[in-house]
This record gives sequence, structure tokens and C-alpha cells, in this order.
Amino acid sequence: MRRPLRILMSAGPTREPLDPVRFISNYSSGYMGAQLAAEALARGHRVTVVCGPIGEPLPAAARVVRVEQAEEMERALRQRAKRADVVLMAAAVSDFRPTRRATVKLQRRNRLRLELKATPDIISRLPRHPRQIVVGFALETDRVAARAKQKLQAKRLDLLLAQHANGGGAPFGRRPVHAWLLSRDGTVTRLGSISKSRAASVLLDKIEALCYGQRRTAR
Ligand code: C5P
Repeated sequence: MRRPLRILMSAGPTREPLDPVRFISNYSSGYMGAQLAAEALARGHRVTVVCGPIGEPLPAAARVVRVEQAEEMERALRQRAKRADVVLMAAAVSDFRPTRRATVKLQRRNRLRLELKATPDIISRLPRHPRQIVVGFALETDRVAARAKQKLQAKRLDLLLAQHANGGGAPFGRRPVHAWLLSRDGTVTRLGSISKSRAASVLLDKIEALCYGQRRTAR
């Protein structure tokens, strides 16, 4: 029998506070993360999910660590990354945060200039071990496969699931996504329009093949 994999994953958006009552964030629902966690657990793996604020329910058998900001997400993942066989970075980490967080509520005014700075690129900075598989996700409005290829290399990922954001709501929530799967060996597989649960299954097949060194046979 195959050893269960220890899968550490992130899901959902992060919130970067502006003042005590406001934040910047994105439309991520956490649904993709929930599907991945459910699929991994169904295959007998051990799953820890570090997740931002989401409404989607996560499977009861997953260990869940709730966070809010990108920096908290990074801390929670860093503490656990070394023990993971697989790191799945499905969170839509806010790429920017306000440089300053006001301690009192900002009052209405005609114009407000915000200064933002980049959040840490968590996946690139996590401690790794040699046999660990690191999987990223990318969301692009244009040149999806080409941009995804650059990210796979820049972030030293083993796999990357790239999705097209069409401006009309996709790929957020429960709708199907238009996706590509990229591997570190240069393979790009067009998945076309695919449900998130099916995408989770395709991804887990690939991860298991890499971890166990063989193609998974149909269940
Ligand atoms: O936002 P970007 O397209 O760079 O995201 C690609 C991958 O990098 C995703 O897996 C995302 O979770 C991860 N990421 C991260 N830290 C950030 C931004 C993105 O780990 N600050």
C-alpha cells in the first residue's frame, strides 16, 4: 500500500487592512481549495489547509488554520512546510497591501491616495526539502499559458494550474474554469472548460504520479 501524503495547502483570499474597518482583497471564494482538500482526503492523504476568510465549508477531516493577512498566511505555512510532502498554494494571496494601516477609521473625503507595497511572494520563500512537490495556481486575463510558464520557472514550481479570468466572474466560485496544467518538464496540457472538482482530480493524479513515481491507474 502507498504511504499517505502529507499535503499542506492554502486557500481563499487574504485581506490587507487599510484601517480598522476596511481592507483590500479579491473575489476568491476558496471553492477550489475545498475541492482539492476533499479530493486529497478521499484518496487517503493527510491535509492541512491554511485559509484566508472564506464562506465555503472545508471537509471536516482537514486540519484548518484560519488566517487573514498575507504575512500571517506566510507564517502559518512556514511553520508547517518542512513536514509536507506536497505544498499546494491555491490561495489568492493579495499581491499588494497598504503601506500604512490607519489606527482609526479614515473619514470620507473627496480624494484619498493609497500607497501599496508588495506582499511577500510566499511560495517562493517557503523552506523546501528535496523530494517535496510544490504546486502553484495562476489566474490571468491574457496570455495565460505564456505568463503561467514564466511563473512556473520564476517560482520554481513542479506544477502550475493556470486559469483564465474572463472579467465576467470566472473563475471565482463554483463555476467551471478554463484551465491549463503546466509541469516542470515543460509539458502544457490544455484542460479546456473544466469543473473545479474535476480539475482537483486531474491535479491529484499528477501529484501522485510525481510522488509515487508512477502513473496512477483508474480507480
Ligand atoms: O499572484 P501570482 O499570479 O503570482 O500567483 C501565483 C502563485 O503564487 C499562486 O500559487 C499564489 O498562491 C502564489 N503567491 C504567493 N504569494 C504571493 C502571491 C502569490 O505565494 N504574494
